[in-house]
Amino acid sequence: MDKVSVLKSKQEEALQGGGAKRIESQHKKGKLTARERLQLLLDEGSFEEIGMFVQHRSRDFGMEKEIYPGDGVVTGFGTVNGRLVYVYSQDFTVFGGSLSETHAEKICKIMDLAIQNGAPVIGLNDSGGARIQEGVVSLGGYADIFYRNVKSSGVVPQLSAIMGPCAGGAVYSPAITDFILMVENTSYMFVTGPNVVKTVTHETVTSEELGGAHTHASKSGVTHFALANEVECIDHIKRLLSYMPQNCEEEAPVYAYEAGDETRIKLDSIIPENPNQPYDIKEVIEEVVDTDSFLEVHKEYAENIVVGFARIGGRSVGVVANQPAFLAGVLDINSSKKGARFVRFCDAFNIPLLVLVDVPGFLPGTDQEWHGIITNGAKLLYALSEATVPKVTVITRKAYGGAYDVMNSKHIGADLNYAWPTAEIAVMGAKGAAEIIFKKEIAEATDHEAKWKEKEMEYMEKFANPYGAAARGFIDEVILPSETRAKLIKAYKMLENKAVSMPKRKHGNIPL
Ligand code: HXC
Repeated sequence: MDKVSVLKSKQEEALQGGGAKRIESQHKKGKLTARERLQLLLDEGSFEEIGMFVQHRSRDFGMEKEIYPGDGVVTGFGTVNGRLVYVYSQDFTVFGGSLSETHAEKICKIMDLAIQNGAPVIGLNDSGGARIQEGVVSLGGYADIFYRNVKSSGVVPQLSAIMGPCAGGAVYSPAITDFILMVENTSYMFVTGPNVVKTVTHETVTSEELGGAHTHASKSGVTHFALANEVECIDHIKRLLSYMPQNCEEEAPVYAYEAGDETRIKLDSIIPENPNQPYDIKEVIEEVVDTDSFLEVHKEYAENIVVGFARIGGRSVGVVANQPAFLAGVLDINSSKKGARFVRFCDAFNIPLLVLVDVPGFLPGTDQEWHGIITNGAKLLYALSEATVPKVTVITRKAYGGAYDVMNSKHIGADLNYAWPTAEIAVMGAKGAAEIIFKKEIAEATDHEAKWKEKEMEYMEKFANPYGAAARGFIDEVILPSETRAKLIKAYKMLENKAVSMPKRKHGNIPL
């Protein structure tokens, strides 16, 4: 064979992965191959492969006879909507996508390039974990990747799609990355599978229950997105990228935006007459951000807080909003963790924050206290205080107690704090406050209930409004709900060149 033909035949062999039979079996499971996934993800013709001929070095258990060029992972770079990304896509048809020493080296190589050249890393994961035949070199390979995940954190965005089984070491790299996306019914993540679980804890559980997309989207919060199929998953990756800069030194792309009438009349009547009635904060979000630009993150987890990306006037913002329609929007352990992690991503990548506040306080009780609401609630407080990106707050209704401070109050560095006329800014709800401070009067009154009501109204009149806070400058302006969007467009434009310098330190110590 001439040299050109040798090259062509080697390339042809690499493209076959683990062979036609295994590819067929992959398709039968409703899964695409590693290369098909990359084809969907990257702009046509943009993919440049690195390491197509890499082979494993294992010579035990007959492995010397089982060599597949590329060694179970396709790596390289390409573009998504014209923007550079580094990618790896694990090939389940080769040793179940398991991670060998050389497989890890390929992933590390593109991660090193990503840090050096400042572009996101996207991992398409489909792996049985450490290559069992290799032992410690495979474990070392994982650690080499974890180390780079941490080094890249906050430097370039890292996205992990889980598109098949991911067991053992295969879950810890995604766990360190910024966002995880899982595919329903064909992907799962766990440290150890159902068989080991049965032996150790005697629990009987299916893979789906233990670590399927729905479990991780709603129960553990490990995944940020659960998508119906691989095509939707890949579309979501592309959409997510559109809100992000390439690296921590850049700004997110600005999209074309045509100014028009920004008044949103619907918002003037969105707050119910009765302050204890719920409403859906997502309706407020949809009204204030650019049309159809809201991409919710962690939709099914800790629904009492809503977080997600959107655009206002064509620019990316990260939205963090209490959700009165779920547990009255109370802050608890999970919602604080969810909010904090999202805020830290936005801050790391120069994405301004919009905080919408309607919060009755922190959730009391033994369950929350014993599981650490103090430490966990402090995460959100820490994250919002630490953030130096433009920070704008709108209090729509309740801002009670410590939660007022936490939810991007002026005191923790917010740049602009707006309140609607329906805002209630107080240490606590009027009923509870009256019970405490007028305890004696209520006890001594002939009609306790009537006295209580009277004192409740008195407290409400004094504090259940935004004007006390506005008088002190804690609220910059009381605005009509319908003018919120117009105000926000101007606010972010005004804050465009915000620059903050912080005291010198190695890093802070967020209460983990
Ligand atoms: C080598 C592996 C492998 C592995 C799968 N294969 N996992 N080869 N090392 N870890 C191979 C199989 O031998 C098979 O080869 C092919 O991949 C497909 O596997 P199947 O079992 O036929 O597929 P399926 O039924 O879909 O099951 C997938 C699976 C299962 C759930 C992932 O294979 C599995 O449980 N694998 C082991 C998972 C595991 O315990 N990994 C080690 C974790 S420890 P053929 O030739 O038939 O195609 C770990 C430590 C790191 O990762 C810790 C760092 C912190």
